[in-house]
Parts: sequence; structure tokens; C-alpha cells
Amino acid sequence: MPAGPAERKIERKILVTGLKPTGRPHLGNYFGMMGRLPEMQEEYESFVFIADLHALTTLRAPDEMRGNIRGIVLDYLAIGLDPKKAAIYLQSDIPEIAELGWIFNCITTMPFLMRAHAFKDAQAKSKEISVGTFDYPLLMAADILIQDADIVPVGADQKQHVEIARDTAEKFNSLFGDAFKLPDALIMDETKIVPGTDGRKMSKSYGNTIPLFAEDEEIAKAVMGIPTDSRGIEEPKDAQGDTLFALHKLLSPNIAEIEKKYKEGGMGYKESKEILIANLVALIAPLRERRKEFEAQGNLVQEILGRGGEIARERAVEKLADVKAKAGLAYA
Ligand code: ADP
Ligand code: TRP
Repeated sequence: MPAGPAERKIERKILVTGLKPTGRPHLGNYFGMMGRLPEMQEEYESFVFIADLHALTTLRAPDEMRGNIRGIVLDYLAIGLDPKKAAIYLQSDIPEIAELGWIFNCITTMPFLMRAHAFKDAQAKSKEISVGTFDYPLLMAADILIQDADIVPVGADQKQHVEIARDTAEKFNSLFGDAFKLPDALIMDETKIVPGTDGRKMSKSYGNTIPLFAEDEEIAKAVMGIPTDSRGIEEPKDAQGDTLFALHKLLSPNIAEIEKKYKEGGMGYKESKEILIANLVALIAPLRERRKEFEAQGNLVQEILGRGGEIARERAVEKLADVKAKAGLAYA
């Protein structure tokens, strides 16, 4: 159980990470970040939160937001996160985070934030960007720095945001004195980018996902829809350029054998798809069943968020008090 400030004798390093409640998690999320958390909670003092304030930059549907928040807590539990080992909490339950975000606003320049890839991408898609979208990295910096994170596990696309958090910590420390640790991103690069059913990066926004808690029929349908070239069963195939093969690499217990069949021929794409479906079902079915068990437990989600929120908030209050004192905001 992560300790509050009173009993904190930090020996273990601190892990902080968040996921936006914007939809059902998919295999990209799982292999990108979520899936490693259960083993990491054994080693790190872990703070895992649901980034609802970040989700508000794109999701303005209250029922959907509430449903997604509940869903993600259940997802985390189903993959093996243990609320006795990791504090699981809701970002908006800790008002100190947004307050710290404001303090960071005041010490950061616009040109610095304009260099963020996520902002540039948003700008390329639309001119009507919210202030929240622009300011996204500084709220994320507050999430991370308020808990004294040592490491921040994220997918490769979030690396720059963690660097911004680090730069922001340095900026504050140099202006007002040391308040913040400098966090490191932990990028899950052995898996890199998980492809979706159309071969592009698996992403909710492309509609090419295989949901992590999909039913068997949904898994089969998604895999059967993956496009392949027209090479016949006996023909050698190009493993490197094949979406199916990229997914086999994540899931198959005998990848060498599959690779051999791709190189030498003898396995058709239909068989390749059937093997992939079987391996996906083997991964997903037990997770899905565990999720259903948690879902049936009445107030479980409220209880977990309540307890996790208390632990995370106690620490956040202490950190913010120090920050305010250093910046001359606490008048006593
Ligand atoms: P999406 O693109 O579906 O909206 P998010 O932006 O919510 O996904 O991603 C949440 C986390 O999962 C991030 O840390 C991200 O880097 C990781 N992630 C998302 N999609 C993939 C993918 N296809 N491969 C690897 N990691 C991914
Ligand atoms: N920006 C992250 C994403 O899109 C979510 C997030 C918000 C986060 N705050 C964070 C991740 C703090 C790690 C640490 O996936």
C-alpha cells in the first residue's frame, strides 16, 4: 500500500501513470503500458490514476465520461492491479493538481509549449483548439511532479510530455528552490507501436482497434478483417510487412515456428489468422471473466477511488504547501 506522508520512509521508487477515460482500452494500450503495471506494482510505490481532466479536452458527454471512468477502474483490476499495492484514483478528486498546473502556467512560456508534438498535431487538424489542449502538458507535469514520481511508464507518444514535466520541475527548482524530483519516462519500447487491423498504429481515433476485453466473436471478426496480400498457402510470405505477423510477435508462444512458415511457405493467411484468434482468446478470455466478477461487486469502484484518492491527496496537499511556501503564496 503506498504510504501517506506520515509513515513515508521512502525506500521504494515512485511510479506515476495515468490513462484518459476516453473509451475502451485496446491491445495497443495494453502492450504499450497498462499490461506491465501489475508486475511493476511489486517493485514501485505506485500511483495509477484516471486522467478525467485531460479527457475533458475532447469528451463532453457526462454519462459517457462516468461510464468510462468506472470502466477503466474495472479494467485495471481485471489485468491484475491490486488496490492494496497501488493507489488508484481519479485526477479530478485531487484539486491540488489543477492548482499546481496554474503555478506551472505562470512560469512557462507559450513558445515552449508550442513545440509539443501533440499540440502541433491538434493544430494541424483544427484551428479551434481549446486552451486545455494547449495547456495539456502542464497539467500532466502537475500529475507527475505532485507525487514525486521517479518513473512514468508511458507509450512512446508520451515521451515528450514527460520531458516537459522534467523541464518544468527544473524551472521551478531554479526559480524558487528545490521542490521537485526530476522524473524519467519509462518507455515500453520492446513492443513499440502495436498495429491496428488496418496496419496503421492501433488507435481509438482510427477505429482499427482490438478491444482488450472483446468477446470472442468480436476478436474473430476484427482479425478476419485484417487485409493480407494474395499469396497462396505454399508461397513464402513477407513477415516484416505483415500486420498479422506483428500481432503474432506480441502473442505467440512459438514465434520462431510461425516465422519459419512465413519464410518457407506452407501456411496460408487463413491459418495465420486462426492461430492469432486462438492466442488472442487465450489472453483475453480470462481477463474478461475476471472483469465480470469485479463488475458484479456493487460499490467496489467507489471504494477503490475513495481510498486511492485519500492517499494521493494527502501527499498532494503536502507537496503543494511546500510549493506555495517557496513561491511566496503562503502568507503566515
Ligand atoms: P488512443 O490512440 O487509442 O487514443 P491513448 O492515446 O489513450 O490511445 O493511449 C494511452 C496509452 O497507450 C499511451 O501511453 C499510448 O502511448 C499507449 N498506446 C496507445 N496506442 C498504442 C499502440 N498502438 N501501440 C503502443 N502503445 C499505444
Ligand atoms: N497524456 C497521457 C495519455 O494520453 C495520459 C496522462 C495524463 C498521463 N497525465 C499523465 C500519463 C501523467 C502519465 C503520467 O496517455
